Amino acid sequence: MSIRFRLLLSFTSVVVISVILFVLAAYLLSVAVTGDFRSISSFYKIHLSLHPLSEEEENLFLDMKYLAKHDPAQLKNRQILEEYDYQLKMVQAMLVVRENNKILYAAPKLKDINLDAVLPPYDMYNNTIRHTMNVGSHFFSYAKFDFYFSPESDVKGSVFVLRERSPFAEMIRTLLPLLIFVFVAILLLTGFLLYRYVTRKIVHPLDQLRKSAEHIKDGDLTYELKASSRDEVGQLVQTFDQMREKLHQSVQLQLHYEDNRKQLLSNISHDLRTPITTIKGYAEGIRDGVTHTQEKLDKYVAAIHTRASDMERLVDELLFYSKLDLNKEPFSFEQVELSPFLHRIVSELSIELDNHAVEVRWDEEKQPQPLFVLADREKLKRVLMNLLDNALKYMNQQPKQLTIGIKRLEDQVMVVLKDNGPGIHPDSLPYIFERFYREEASRSPSVRGSGLGLAIARQIIEGHGGEIWANSEPGKGTTICFTLKNFVDRR
Ligand SMILES: Nc1ncnc2c1ncn2[C@@H]1O[C@H](COP(=O)(O)OP(=O)(O)OP(=O)(O)O)[C@@H](O)[C@H]1O
Ligand SMILES: [Mg+2]
Repeated sequence: MSIRFRLLLSFTSVVVISVILFVLAAYLLSVAVTGDFRSISSFYKIHLSLHPLSEEEENLFLDMKYLAKHDPAQLKNRQILEEYDYQLKMVQAMLVVRENNKILYAAPKLKDINLDAVLPPYDMYNNTIRHTMNVGSHFFSYAKFDFYFSPESDVKGSVFVLRERSPFAEMIRTLLPLLIFVFVAILLLTGFLLYRYVTRKIVHPLDQLRKSAEHIKDGDLTYELKASSRDEVGQLVQTFDQMREKLHQSVQLQLHYEDNRKQLLSNISHDLRTPITTIKGYAEGIRDGVTHTQEKLDKYVAAIHTRASDMERLVDELLFYSKLDLNKEPFSFEQVELSPFLHRIVSELSIELDNHAVEVRWDEEKQPQPLFVLADREKLKRVLMNLLDNALKYMNQQPKQLTIGIKRLEDQVMVVLKDNGPGIHPDSLPYIFERFYREEASRSPSVRGSGLGLAIARQIIEGHGGEIWANSEPGKGTTICFTLKNFVDRR
């Protein structure tokens, strides 16, 4: 059974039960108000058939009707009339007898009323014998019977049994069907609106959830859900959509990894193939006797050695990179005082820097206390070597300047390496930290490299919990910055 159907069922039962309770309450209320069980027991009969009199009154009325039919003269006998009126009075009714247009007898209570004007006219066929009438602020229900006192003399007679009723009660009674209708209509409308509301708030979101789940089942993870409320159902929809989003992201990531893997394989094959082809070429040259002089042979052997070293370096770098990528390369962090550490690395490279005529400048603020970072010495050295190697490799104009800066940030330290080399084209800048990425200009055979240097640097810096980025202006130079966590001794 669907929730929609259950809701419909529950609302219908609420409406039906409410109607039953309402009828019961109305019944009990009228019993409580009138205190009259008998009239209540015939409540509907009386009012649906517009029966104006109670049973006793009706009996007395029938008596008089019988008399009017068989012995109308009796209805002129005041004593008999008073007797009937007395009996009627006992049951809260009143008697009126009319002869032609003259009131022959009227109950004393009616003496202030101009009955001539208000009583219905004579009707020989007695078409309407039960009705109501308004007299000023009084409201009466009555039963009437028209007859001839003596057919020969054509004297018309009418007998009325009247009962005064409360106009309010009468109005209520008249309006009762309408009231019940309005009440039921309100109940139905409320039920319908509630049903719509609950359907919109629960069933509709559940439908959406089902649709989304079906899309996911079919492999479409882009079907977005929007929570329309903040209630439990809304939260469920939101959480479900977050789950879909996460799933989507992870699938995208998997696809991205897959792409990367393919790219990596093609890059490796390409980068290994080139030196192998060259080595093969040189080896063939030697085999074919091209190297007839010792000098040429030495040149060929040296070239083979260089290419083989390139390949070895590439394989080493690749191995190291993949270890970092797979988190298989353990980091051994220790407290390192940054400034002396950097100075030592630069001095280790001083011969090479001098050979390339690179002028090194230091840009360090005076620190009140030595700046310590938490770092893996070996790996941090590798980062710096890679960055310095790039600066040396790519700087091509004179004078070659390299500025190394150390800046203290809030709880980090930033190292800045600025060169005045050729710079990097803005289109390439976002990709230089990707593995195997080399700018077109760097792909010339004179500039060797695998495109792994910055990728390794990024892996290591991120492994330290820091960040690495580059700014560059073509023709002016490149700035590489990275951050490391400032080590604060809290002992
Ligand atoms: N200081 C720099 N000046 C100009 N271009 C640079 C600089 N540093 C990096 N690049 C550009 O970024 C690319 C990627 O650098 P990366 O160090 O990762 O690779 P590589 O130097 O080409 O090779 P490898 O470092 O593996 O020997 C380089 O090919 C080069 O185009
Ligand atoms: Mg490099």
